[in-house]
Amino acid sequence: MHTPTETGTKIVGMGMCLPEKVLTNFDLEKIVETSDEWIRTRTGIQERRIIAKGQATSDLASEASKQALKNAGLKASDIDLIVVGTITPDMLFPSTACVVQRKIGAENAACFDISAACSGFTYALSIADGLIRSGQYRKALVIGAEALSPFLDWTERSTCVLFGDGAGACILVSTPQKEKGIIASYLGSDGTYADILGIPAGGSAIPPTHESIDARLHTLKMEGSEVFKIAVRTMCDAVFEIAKRAGMKATDIDCLIPHQANLRILQAVAERVEIPLEKLFLNLQRYGNMSAASTAVAMYEAWEAKKFTPGSNTVLVAFGGGLTWASVWIKW
Ligand code: UT7
Repeated sequence: MHTPTETGTKIVGMGMCLPEKVLTNFDLEKIVETSDEWIRTRTGIQERRIIAKGQATSDLASEASKQALKNAGLKASDIDLIVVGTITPDMLFPSTACVVQRKIGAENAACFDISAACSGFTYALSIADGLIRSGQYRKALVIGAEALSPFLDWTERSTCVLFGDGAGACILVSTPQKEKGIIASYLGSDGTYADILGIPAGGSAIPPTHESIDARLHTLKMEGSEVFKIAVRTMCDAVFEIAKRAGMKATDIDCLIPHQANLRILQAVAERVEIPLEKLFLNLQRYGNMSAASTAVAMYEAWEAKKFTPGSNTVLVAFGGGLTWASVWIKW
């Protein structure tokens, strides 16, 4: 029987794992009718990482998790909850969280995945925060991990140039301090846009057949310009909403960690929420859009770059297929 005696949560360790293989815009020029100039100026992306044959999402997630545990000074057996944000699980089931549990030896954890596309890590962080606050768990491993490259149509230039593979992880623990750590979170969705971004086949609606494979229905489809417009609007709303929930203003944000889909989206968001672009942590030039892994890896890199000084305010804001959006306010 657990009782909610401790009412806050804080992040005590982070990690990341990226595949070794780098695919540059120049490499892509040899695969599809595109150019480094188009990709750089329309998206901000210069290169991305691609998993090796035989590597799976859980491999990246497990390495990121081991690093996060090490940085937190904890053992895998100390963890009682694992939540993985991913839309590229190792398989339909069991969950990738269970596979990670086995790989790192976290035998005391309850494990599940969250399907919220690019918002997956931010969703997972909010859910783990709520479960810890309820008193049911004390030490959570929260992961954003994706192996998107096997699900891309490498003949479709409007999507294959955008995405990459990677994983980020953090350890969230209960704390009696309420004024620091995760201060507020906000989750949103609009399923009326379910068809504009996703992988149509492979589930119960369109199970795998020779026809579905021939029609490339197992690869990512996106109506880019429609998604772009909604991304700007919902990310701005999510920043204003989280500031309201935290009892702060958007201009109080010291470091904004956005989902890394397109530099032009982030420029538009920064302008509308009146935060200088320098306060946004950006790594999409090196990794592209890694879906749920993007905010997780960016948070790790921002932490490593000492962007989180004591008392400073960080906001994670994400947007993705579903459509989904989410934001989390963290005080360090
Ligand atoms: O993480 C989930 C959320 N995802 C996003 O937020 C992505 C949101 N969308 C975007 O980032 C942008 O819409 C894209 C980068 C996907 C596309 O940029 P755009 O400025 O919206 O371009 P467009 O789709 O309107 O296409 C403009 C032109 C088209 O040619 P025409 O019809 O004008 O002749 C495309 O065929 O650019 C062409 N194009 C390309 N050209 C060279 C599309 N992809 C490429 C390419 N290389 N890779």
